[in-house]
Amino acid sequence: MAKPFFMSKFDLRILATLAALLAVGAITQSCESHGTDAAAPYETFNMPANELTYPMLKQMALSSCLQCHDEFNSQAGFDQDIVAGKPDQSQLIQMVESGEMPKGGLPHLSDAQIAMIRTFIENDKSGAPPLPPLAATYASLKANLIDQSCISCHSQTSVKPHEPYMDTYDEVNDASDDMATELLEGSMPPKGHQAPSEEVKKAFVEWVNNGAPNN
Ligand code: HEC
Ligand code: HEC
Repeated sequence: MAKPFFMSKFDLRILATLAALLAVGAITQSCESHGTDAAAPYETFNMPANELTYPMLKQMALSSCLQCHDEFNSQAGFDQDIVAGKPDQSQLIQMVESGEMPKGGLPHLSDAQIAMIRTFIENDKSGAPPLPPLAATYASLKANLIDQSCISCHSQTSVKPHEPYMDTYDEVNDASDDMATELLEGSMPPKGHQAPSEEVKKAFVEWVNNGAPNN
C-alpha cells in the first residue's frame, strides 16, 4: 500500500463521512450495553473496504495507541502485531475488544473503531504470497481475478454460495462467456467488493477469446 501520507480531497471526504458515522456510533454505544454482537463492518461504516488506507485507520482508530506504540506509526509496524487477513487470530483485536488496550486509563475503542480495525486486517494482504504475473492463462487469471474478486461468493464453500461456481477449471470454462459479459458490463463483482483492474479484465477477455484453454 504505497499511498502517500497526505490526503486527497477524496480521502478527506471519506474521512468526514467516517467522522460523522463514528460520532453516531459513539452515541449509540453509550445507550446500549457493550454487547458481544458481532459488528457487521459494512453496516457500521459505509465504504468499500479496499478504500480504507492505513493513514485513515491510524487517524480514526489508533490515535490513542500511538502514545505508547511508536511502531503503529507505520503499517509495517502495525503488521508485525497482527495476522494479516485474519482478525480472529490477531491478538490485537482481542485486546481492544476486551478493553485490555489501550492501557493507561484511556477510553475503550468504540464498536465502530473496532469494526474498522477488523475490516482493515481482513483486507491486509501483506502476509499473502505475491500474485503471479498477469497473463491470459487460466493459472494467472485464477490467482489474479477469480481468487481476488469472485471466489468469495462463487464457491460451493462460500458462506452464501452463488452460481456459477468457479472452484475448478471445468466450472470456470463453462461459465467463461457469462463471466466476460459481467466483467465488461461492470455488473460483477457487486458494488462495494474488490473490483478487478482494466488490465485484469482485458487479460480475462483475451483468454476467453483464445478458447479458454486450461493453461
Ligand atoms: C499507556 C500505554 C499504552 C497504550 C495507550 C496502548 N498500549 Fe498496547 N501495550 C502497552 C504495553 C506496556 C504493552 C506490553 C505489555 C503488556 O502486554 O501489558 C502493550 C502491548 C500491546 C500489544 C501486544 C503486543 C505487543 O506489542 O507487545 C498489542 C497488540 C497492543 N498493545 C495494542 C494496543 C492498541 C491497539 C492500542 C490502542 C487501542 C494500545 N495498545 C494502546 C501500552 C499501551
Ligand atoms: C459479493 C458476492 C459476489 C462476488 C464477489 C461476485 N459475485 Fe457474481 N454473483 C453474485 C450473485 C448474488 C449473483 C446472482 C444474482 C445476480 O445475478 O445479481 C451473481 C451472479 C453472477 C453471474 C451469473 C449472472 C447471470 O445473469 O446468470 C456471473 C457470470 C457472475 N456472477 C460472475 C462474477 C464474476 C466474474 C465475479 C468476479 C469478478 C463475481 N461474479 C463476483 C455475487 C457475487
